[in-house]
Amino acid sequence: NQLEMELEAIEKGGYEHFMLKEINEQPRSIADCMRGRLDANNGRLVLGGLRDYMNKFQNADRIIITACGTSWHAGLVAEYLFEEFARIPVEVEYASEFRYRNPVINEKDFVIAISQSGETADTLAAIELAKSKGATIFGVCNVVGSSIARATHAGSYTHAGPEIGVASTKAFTAQISVLTMMALKLGYQRGTLSENRYMQLLSELETIPSKVERALQLNDKIKEIAAEFKDSRNFLYLGRGYNFPVALEGALKLKEISYIHAEGYPAAEMKHGPIALIDEEMPVVFIATKDSSYEKVVSNIQEVKARKGKIIAVVTEGDTSVKHMADYVIEIPETEEAFVPLISVVPLQQLSYHIAVMRGCNVDQPRNLAKSVTVE
Ligand code: G6P
Repeated sequence: NQLEMELEAIEKGGYEHFMLKEINEQPRSIADCMRGRLDANNGRLVLGGLRDYMNKFQNADRIIITACGTSWHAGLVAEYLFEEFARIPVEVEYASEFRYRNPVINEKDFVIAISQSGETADTLAAIELAKSKGATIFGVCNVVGSSIARATHAGSYTHAGPEIGVASTKAFTAQISVLTMMALKLGYQRGTLSENRYMQLLSELETIPSKVERALQLNDKIKEIAAEFKDSRNFLYLGRGYNFPVALEGALKLKEISYIHAEGYPAAEMKHGPIALIDEEMPVVFIATKDSSYEKVVSNIQEVKARKGKIIAVVTEGDTSVKHMADYVIEIPETEEAFVPLISVVPLQQLSYHIAVMRGCNVDQPRNLAKSVTVE
């Protein structure tokens, strides 16, 4: 047992928890995911697994993405990516609903299954169903040789390395990295992305690991925010566009490990319900980076402020307007709007981590949850 404990300490690489180690590994895991695939200087982007299926992918009538949990959130980000860059309609489906709905699927559909473990029972069943209807199935998995990796026609591994913490962190950003590369490649091949724009996006994508590294340095500030809100009973997370799935993911992280009730919403939906919950006891996390929906998010922030909600805002470095409204601001490096989730999710992971630690929760193995759910 002593030996086991020592081994575990070594595996944690000096960190107190696997989750913290995995959060901090993200600059490297994202780089690992892109290594050998992306070479912006030479305008090269190669995803080996995609090569034989590029034709099918390019000519698909529709892309269906299926997954569970955090992987489903990565799928939501991918919906925005594929529709923006490749102009192919996308549907994102919870695997558990998809498999039992008698969905309309045919040979012209390209199905992407996302799974860290590659063992999630619902996702596997959704794949088998889509396969039986003749669709092409592409896997985005982390675990090499896993059931889902074997059940798909082709795939791209996320190469995030083993993820031990039950709450997914580095696997999520690696999934988004793969899906981003897929969307860029597809857009370029289909001609929906111009050569110039494509090259520009490739160069920016290459800077993401160092920007994530910079975002990680906000850790101490986030710890202070965590101390302020650790006893809150509820949290609301709001974002729009690419940051809407990030809001869902931020809320999920908090629920999973701190057992605080949290809801993620598209910020514009606030007025259709969640606004009723806002009072001086309610912390609201806004992801309000400088992008096409920024002005609208700012007006949502004002609405929360008017009702005395406590505002924690993730903004782009140098932002000045939100500073006057928010109780706490977290400034992250600027990037292309489509790549923001890779950075904006990081402070939310840290926030949930610190709150959970301060509440004395078992961060790596939260109650009632399993790392991979191999039963229905
Ligand atoms: C479980 C885990 C989550 C994960 C989900 C999907 O609920 O606790 O962290 O996101 O399963 O798992 P997968 O391995 O398919 O990505």
